[in-house]
Amino acid sequence: MITSILETIGNTPLITIPNSNRANEGQVLFKYERFNPGGSIKDRAAIHIINEAERRGLLKPGGTIIESSSGNFGISLAMIGAAKGYRVIILIDPKTTSANLALLKCFGAEVIVVTEKDDCGSYHKTRISLANKLAMEIDNAFRPDQCFNLMNSEAHYQSTAREIMGDCSNKLKVFITAVSTGGQLGGISRYLKTFAPEVQVIGVDAVGSSIFGGHADSYRIPGIGLGWTPVNLNMEYVDCAYKITDEQAFVTARAFARNEGILMGPSSGACALVALKVAQELTPQDRIVCMISDGGERYIQTLFNDEWMQQQGFATNADFETIRTMARQLQPWSMCPASSANYRSDLTQSLEVPDSTLRMNLEVEGRRYTRQVSSMYID
Ligand SMILES: Cc1ncc(COP(=O)(O)O)c(C=O)c1O
Repeated sequence: MITSILETIGNTPLITIPNSNRANEGQVLFKYERFNPGGSIKDRAAIHIINEAERRGLLKPGGTIIESSSGNFGISLAMIGAAKGYRVIILIDPKTTSANLALLKCFGAEVIVVTEKDDCGSYHKTRISLANKLAMEIDNAFRPDQCFNLMNSEAHYQSTAREIMGDCSNKLKVFITAVSTGGQLGGISRYLKTFAPEVQVIGVDAVGSSIFGGHADSYRIPGIGLGWTPVNLNMEYVDCAYKITDEQAFVTARAFARNEGILMGPSSGACALVALKVAQELTPQDRIVCMISDGGERYIQTLFNDEWMQQQGFATNADFETIRTMARQLQPWSMCPASSANYRSDLTQSLEVPDSTLRMNLEVEGRRYTRQVSSMYID
């Protein structure tokens, strides 16, 4: 018997897409993270960080969890807080969908909407600064700090990456995922480059985000992008990066709902478009694993609402052949992402990253070093 909803996090299915894959191309598999109980991949990082914080005494009974999140990580924390009995405060921004806001409230989280944009045209820095300030003011508060806490990528190194390799083994040719805090791409790429270095790793970002360099501007894809390269991501492990426009991401997600019966959000639409492009260049023995980080229900009023799509000037009726043509025309943004890394060590100080994060990071770095040394020894 399962003793807590939290035990159902992880072990998500890897799904083939028979109506979209072609017999003469590489075969795309979706790692479908909607099956986590909080509905997204963020459950994995959230439970890992909270369990580790409890273990170290950084989060105590009666404590308050405070986090900056555009939605999914906040929802995961709100669910975990409800299950474990913590107060949860989430700082969101105007891009957060009304469905996500409702979900946060369902789990009893308190929500603060941050409306001031930062110097990158986004809300990340203003949200993070305010979350750090609140954490200093509120007694017995803990900041999971998904953007600066290396436990985020560690969660994916320990769970998501192992599941993918367990299901796919030596047929895995390419791995594709979206990036924001770099948790998933950082953790999974580190695992793959350690245990299966022949696998090509592709990061997907939004046009307007500058994780892989380039001009920062506003964009509409939720959950993706950042104004700098996150510490959770080592760009040396990423072979190639794509930047996808808002419309490309949204129309692709809609097309997959009708072509495969698979609901996904816009960030996954962006990844799925890149997966179709890569498949066109590979052979049928090759497997391409594409992360589908959440489901589509939370975007019913935006992505799946024709009126909303029309208001953005996005097409509403793109059929699957149009999507395949769009995929064929994609060009990588960079074939050497490490050369355009945009790390910002000054942010640790200017955003006042909490001591608890820095302490957790020291430990993760120590463990990574030990792991490296022991794998050298085994070799
Ligand atoms: C739907 C969705 N896709 C992709 C990402 C990016 O994942 P990460 O923050 O691990 O880079 C997020 C992060 O919030 C997300 O919510």
